[in-house]
Amino acid sequence: MEHIVKDENKKQTKLQKQLKDCAWITFVSEPEETDSTNRVAKQLAQEGAAEGTLVVAKRQSMGKGRLGRSFFSPEGGIYMSVVLRPQITPEKAVLITTCAAVAVARAIDRVCGLHAGIKWVNDIFINGKKVCGILAEAEMNPETAMPEYVILGIGINVKKQSVPEELKEIAGCLEEYGMMPEKKEELIAAVWEEFGMLYTDLSTAVYMKEYKERSVLLGREVTVFAATGEYKAVVSDIDEEGHLVVERDGSVQYISTGEVSVRL
Ligand code: BTN
Repeated sequence: MEHIVKDENKKQTKLQKQLKDCAWITFVSEPEETDSTNRVAKQLAQEGAAEGTLVVAKRQSMGKGRLGRSFFSPEGGIYMSVVLRPQITPEKAVLITTCAAVAVARAIDRVCGLHAGIKWVNDIFINGKKVCGILAEAEMNPETAMPEYVILGIGINVKKQSVPEELKEIAGCLEEYGMMPEKKEELIAAVWEEFGMLYTDLSTAVYMKEYKERSVLLGREVTVFAATGEYKAVVSDIDEEGHLVVERDGSVQYISTGEVSVRL
């Protein structure tokens, strides 16, 4: 661990200063580069790190995305993971991603003066382009069958050059929508402030209303990529458990995160 947020004897980093009002973040580690902040946070959690231990890297050499994909993570973006120790059932653990999506969207609105949308389940969209991905990984306790800890990882594209040519069609970055890269630390702190507030009400899912209001999928036709094949369907709802509700040939289907990806 490199930095302790409230250690008065150490010179605080720009990020630590921004996090001063974010009481639930207890420790911050700020490596220049790592393979994956989720991997580092997981290691810290296994060593007993408390809830609110945060890892923020300038770049990642092996950033992880959903469904086994990689997450391109050059310098200029935000790559961070936090250790959570929620007292929730495994079924409710999916709500951490949902809750995080609302928190990131709120933080982007607040710091950048934009309106961020959410593409189920974990992508943040602006003007039809993905600017942020979220990956929550739970470690189960085999005795209690409850999560021992959850690593919540968030990657945000900030600087223009952080989006490679082949991703330019689908990926956007906040700088192209007017965010000053110097506001990175302010945005990071805003994300964790917003998340901290929503996380206290995790199981009541009070943020689901806002999640739906921000959804870029509701009412739209999508292509669902399932293990059994792909099909077209219309999104009719997102339920309280975070399932995507789609209608296909007159029948209603409930899609769980982790099973499929969805394309507009
Ligand atoms: C996705 O869009 O599929 C999820 C991407 C999640 C990327 C973040 S970057 C910080 C954290 N560390 C990782 O290795 N992944 C997450």
